[in-house]
This record gives sequence, structure tokens and C-alpha cells, in this order.
Amino acid sequence: MRPSTTRAVHAGRDDLAVLGVHAPPVDLSTTYPLPDLGDGVASVDALAAGAACAASPVYGRVHNPTVYRVERALAELDGTEEAVCFASGMAALTATLLATCAAKRHVVALRPLYGGSDNLLASGLLGLDVEWAAGIDGVAPAVREDTGLVVLETPQNPTLGQIDIEAVVVAAGDVPVLVDNTFATPILQQPSRHGAAYTLQSATKFLSGHGDVVAGVVSCSAERAAGLRQVRIATGAILHPLAAYLLHRSLPTLPFRVREAQERARVLAARLQGHPGVTRVHYPVADGRQLLGPGSVLAFEAAGGFEAAAAVMASVTLITPAVSLGCVDTLIEHPAGLTHRVVDEQARAASGIGEGAVAPLGRARGRRRPLARPRKRAPRRRQAGCARGVTSAEQ
Ligand SMILES: Cc1ncc(COP(=O)(O)O)c(C=O)c1O
Repeated sequence: MRPSTTRAVHAGRDDLAVLGVHAPPVDLSTTYPLPDLGDGVASVDALAAGAACAASPVYGRVHNPTVYRVERALAELDGTEEAVCFASGMAALTATLLATCAAKRHVVALRPLYGGSDNLLASGLLGLDVEWAAGIDGVAPAVREDTGLVVLETPQNPTLGQIDIEAVVVAAGDVPVLVDNTFATPILQQPSRHGAAYTLQSATKFLSGHGDVVAGVVSCSAERAAGLRQVRIATGAILHPLAAYLLHRSLPTLPFRVREAQERARVLAARLQGHPGVTRVHYPVADGRQLLGPGSVLAFEAAGGFEAAAAVMASVTLITPAVSLGCVDTLIEHPAGLTHRVVDEQARAASGIGEGAVAPLGRARGRRRPLARPRKRAPRRRQAGCARGVTSAEQ
């Protein structure tokens, strides 16, 4: 089911009246009394096997009731059986890779991805054999006997490229597909409806929405969630309960924040389209089937390359030049110089993020009026002239 505004308000809170409270309780315990050793053993066994909860949480790294509460809410919004929360989006991706690729070491991934995700895969840190598929058509030929996971983002960070999830799921065959849904959120897209085995989100972004929480979540079947919890216990990447509380507090307003920001972004995208200092605007197109709305993340190419992009970032007033997205205010950043700096330069260029190889993002001919005048000296190194911004209700 698509998440309704009513369920966004009530998800994970249905038992509050019975508990006699109105706001979800926060449990900060790091450990839990176990006077009955038999109960303790049963709880340890259940949680070690990946159970969502047990008679006792046992220990704060193993289970936390406040985290479990927001997980139930997120699973409902994402349309999955369960959800597992992590200390960050990157911890969530790491856990999914560890859970799916312990035996099968091969991963197929589609670029571009968020720079950190690209770096995790490309760095070899997890000892995985990563193959970058050349688009959707490259997925089936890349899949092998030992492929444990297919990884993609849609819309993609930072090019806003869109990928047909169902087509990738078909191409992947028996191999589970992970979709990073951070840009769309379940309000605009539910990858599980299209066959994605794992829906990953950096909950640091729209889900939390106020720029004060770092968190990650993976939504999936109960069976897959059990495997993720086992990794989470082993690696210690559980979300802090205070962050879980704040994340849960943000969910009732999620549909409103996403839709309102989207309306602002539509206006901004249209204005940028017509601006003589902009050579190209990247903004998703809603297809009504997979993606219900374009969202509020957009990218644009400033005529004049790095200097022009730096000038824009130095000139904004209401907008904050900073990495991240999905806050209530508007941020602007330079992917090639910041979030995607860790990505291999050639791969960056091939993905449309680098200055030299952004064929579809070619400079417009003729003299162009600069987009903005810098308030301070621009950095010396030349980078691509692509800036990404997130609009907000306050813009
Ligand atoms: C699309 C996407 N996925 C994953 C991440 C990583 O999330 P986190 O910063 O919460 O670890 C980010 C961070 O910007 C992102 O933009």
C-alpha cells in the first residue's frame, strides 16, 4: 500500500493509547536485568538468530525497543514486512553487503551512486568483487553464479538519472536487488512494489528531515531482515535510541515535507531551465508507475564550469552551501568537488559528473550571462560545473 498521511502519523504508534502515553517512550538502557537465566538464554538465542524482538532486549547493541518501534513504522511506509535501522546510511549499505555477500563475493552495481557508496564498493574494503554494469542492459551479462547483490540508486545521486527497477529485477534473475530510495522516499516511490528485495535509505535525509539525525534503514522481507540484524549485532551498527526517536518524530510530517519541497523544486527547476547562465538542469520525470513525483533534489550545470559553480555556491544567501539534502532548508553542493570527490575520476566523468565527459551536459554555445557573482575567492582547482540543490518549504 502507498503510505497515507494518516498512516504516516500513526505508524509505529498504534499501541501508545494502551500504554497510556501520547509520545513514544525512549529507552536508553544499555543493558537489561535478566533475573531468570532461562528467559535470558531464550532471548539471546532468539535475537542471535535474527528475531525482531524477544522477551528481553538483553543488551543495547542487540536490540532496542525505541529503534524497533521506528522500524515498524518505516516497514509500513516502505510496504515491506520489516525494516532494520542502522547508525547511518553507509552502515546500512555495509550490513546489506555483508549479509548478502558472505558466501557470494560478487556484486553488480550501476553508476552513478552516492560517492560514499561508490567508494565503499570500489575501494575493496569489504573484499568484494565489484562489477560496474553498463546500464540496465549490462546487468544480465554481469550476473554470475557467485553474484550476491545488485546495487542501484534511482533517482541517482547526483545526476538524477532514473532506472527502471522492474527491468533490473528481471535482469538480475535470482539475485536480490538493492535500491537506494533516499531521493524519492516511500512517498514518491516504493521499490518493494517493483520487486526490489532491499530498499535502502539514508534516513539522515528526508526521513529525518531536519538536519539533526544521522541514520540509515533497510526495508525488506522478514527473512532478509533477520540476516541484517545478525550482521548488525556482530558489527555493532545499531541506531542510537535518541536518533530513532527523532526519526520517528519526523515521519508524520514526511508526506507534507516531501510534497511541499517538491512544489518549490518544480518552480526552481523551471526558473533554472530558462536561465541564460545555466546550460542544463537535471530533474527527474515522474512516470506515475514507479516514480509518483520528481521530488525536490535537482542538479544544474552552470555555464562557465567550476568557477561558475563556485561563484553560485559563494553567492547564495537563503541557501546553505553544504553537503546532504532533505532538510527543511535548502542546501547546495558541488558533487565533483565534494560528495563524489572520492569516486574514481574517470568513472565520475563517465557517469556524467566530470567536466570533460559530460556529453549530454554540453556547454551552450555563445556568450552567457554568469549565474552569479562570487562574494569571495573561488577555490583554485578546476572541477565540473555541476551543482546540486535541494529546495525547501522555506525558500
Ligand atoms: C543516496 C544516498 N545514499 C546513501 C547515503 C549515505 O547515507 P549516510 O550519510 O546517512 O551514511 C547518502 C548520503 O548522502 C546518499 O545521498
